[in-house]
Amino acid sequence: MSDLESLFANNIKWADNIKTQNPDYFSNLAKQQAPEYLWIGCSDSRVPANQIVDLAPGELFVHRNVANMVIHTDLNCMTVLNYAVEILKVKHVMVTGHYGCGGVKAALENRKLGLIDYWLRNIRDVYFNNKAIMDELTDTDERLNRLCELNVLQQVDNIAHSNIVQNAWARGQELSVHGWIYDIHDGILHKLRSPIDSAEQIPEQYRLY
Ligand code: CO
Repeated sequence: MSDLESLFANNIKWADNIKTQNPDYFSNLAKQQAPEYLWIGCSDSRVPANQIVDLAPGELFVHRNVANMVIHTDLNCMTVLNYAVEILKVKHVMVTGHYGCGGVKAALENRKLGLIDYWLRNIRDVYFNNKAIMDELTDTDERLNRLCELNVLQQVDNIAHSNIVQNAWARGQELSVHGWIYDIHDGILHKLRSPIDSAEQIPEQYRLY
């Protein structure tokens, strides 16, 4: 069996297992999705969103990119956020970074990699904006992991500063933005800050209302 054929075989086995436990599972799921959460995470294959929080299909709306970035000119991410907040009406958006992130590591190393340099430039901004904290750290792993955390915090702010989120709050919609980080070494998620759930929590310069 070729490598790809084995994936199809896995798929049949997976669907059969679910149907054995609940014969109506897929027909019910096909009718609608009503997830309460939008997960914005890294594309890293070791950070599978649904599995980490043990949620079934239909329960988690997911956007993943290199280093879990939220950039206001990224139509892809903004479209996902827009759809999740305005149509699905998710109650929580969680930016979930992970320690040892390759994207963050590449941004720390000042190497020229091509197209991805445009993307990673945003992480270099996070470094520059937190230079005092970063310059105090000398250990390579510690520096990487601290920048992974600082990057999540910046992306949480970027979400909270978006017009999509501020419009939702202005409408009275319940919506919280969370910053989490995942540790690949032990599979455990950690909260990096308290949630942002109102416009009063964001700096005046970014407020639209
Ligand atoms: Co990563």
